[in-house]
Amino acid sequence: MTAVDGSTVRDPDTLRADMVRALRDRKAIASEPVAAAFAALPRHRFAPDAPLDLAYDIHRTVPVKRDEQGLETSVMSAAHLQAVMLEQAAVEPGMRVLEIGSGGYNAALIQELVGCDGAVTTVDIDRDIVDRARRCLDDTGYDRVRTVLADGEAGVPDGAPYDRIIVTAAAWDIPPAWIGQLTEKGRLVVPLTLCGTTRSVAFDRDGEGLRSRSYCLARFVPIQGEGAAEERKVALRDGIALQTDDKRVALEPTALDQAFDTPRLARWSGAAYDLPDELELYLTLSLSRPARLHAAEYLVEQGLVDASALLGVPALVADGSIAYRTRRENENTGGFESGVIAHGNRAETLADEYVALLRRWARDHRRQGAATFRYLPGNVPSPLPQGAVQKRHGIVTVTWN
Ligand SMILES: C[S@@+](CC[C@H](N)C(=O)[O-])C[C@H]1O[C@@H](n2cnc3c(N)ncnc32)[C@H](O)[C@@H]1O
Repeated sequence: MTAVDGSTVRDPDTLRADMVRALRDRKAIASEPVAAAFAALPRHRFAPDAPLDLAYDIHRTVPVKRDEQGLETSVMSAAHLQAVMLEQAAVEPGMRVLEIGSGGYNAALIQELVGCDGAVTTVDIDRDIVDRARRCLDDTGYDRVRTVLADGEAGVPDGAPYDRIIVTAAAWDIPPAWIGQLTEKGRLVVPLTLCGTTRSVAFDRDGEGLRSRSYCLARFVPIQGEGAAEERKVALRDGIALQTDDKRVALEPTALDQAFDTPRLARWSGAAYDLPDELELYLTLSLSRPARLHAAEYLVEQGLVDASALLGVPALVADGSIAYRTRRENENTGGFESGVIAHGNRAETLADEYVALLRRWARDHRRQGAATFRYLPGNVPSPLPQGAVQKRHGIVTVTWN
């Protein structure tokens, strides 16, 4: 198609075909039913105000709503992530599926997958979003999808049990209703946040709890309402912030800020630095006092903080001291070596603990998908088992293969 100014305008059908091809090439789409669902749906009609290129960009989200501070509370998720999560969910014809967090498009994809014998319910906490999703679904012929206005923390009892529950906002915990509303062989796909990073985890039921089948890094807007995250964040000074959801961590802003004025201790592990997502998960769950360190670019340029903190890096925080991961080129291998930077009175001790973990990961667990997550609902055992993370309604444990 050619525009009046002579430029090429790509029509939605071409963009859609390109999107499906790109999702297949990147292995986000791995099965024919998911490919067929993406090919069938006019994605741009669920983002009527967005430019076509944005609507069909596989990695970008489409903004839908922001709060008073300008933070996004609702987006149309990136097609890449939607495809990955639908593959994790393995939705089959005839299933009953609950989506938590609406928009319309993903629910319509699920409707394609369950077919006319299945049933899809999508619930959102925000009336504007439910109304918008309803309009888009009706306009595109997906009027069979049921839309519900409620806090998804309670699931949607009317319609349970579900074969699949797919959560599309970052959840800090797994409330009892999500497990209770799954069928015996049901699966929950949920972007679960642990110490500031989120992974889409596909859980199957395992006795009273859940056991993971797969996981991958994901970014989502945070869940609101009853289940909102229990996180603490402190700014140490302009451009340096720490966040944690671990009750054992004492975030002492004055002492930690002063620690950055003490000389930096650098320790090298001799171990390879690669598979950053997997290493990060291991560190987050293995550090005795985990937090996440964020730094602004100008402080990195000044040499105060290492570049690893630009996107957030797992940190060990204790007694007003801090240690966090860094890396350097390894001329022998052509790759990178991991290391630690530490500040404060206890820099030596923290660096020792951190380096020992870097070495253990490289020796024992350095591969994709080495972790198995378990969610155990109910009373939190005391003391908390090694490698376990305390949540509101239970604990997450991770074992390494
Ligand atoms: C990423 S958007 C959903 C995207 C959507 N599934 C799509 O088709 O692209 C996340 C949604 O979760 C909703 N949400 C946040 N907390 C919620 C809660 N407790 N219960 C239900 N919905 C919630 C937000 O209002 C937002 O619309």
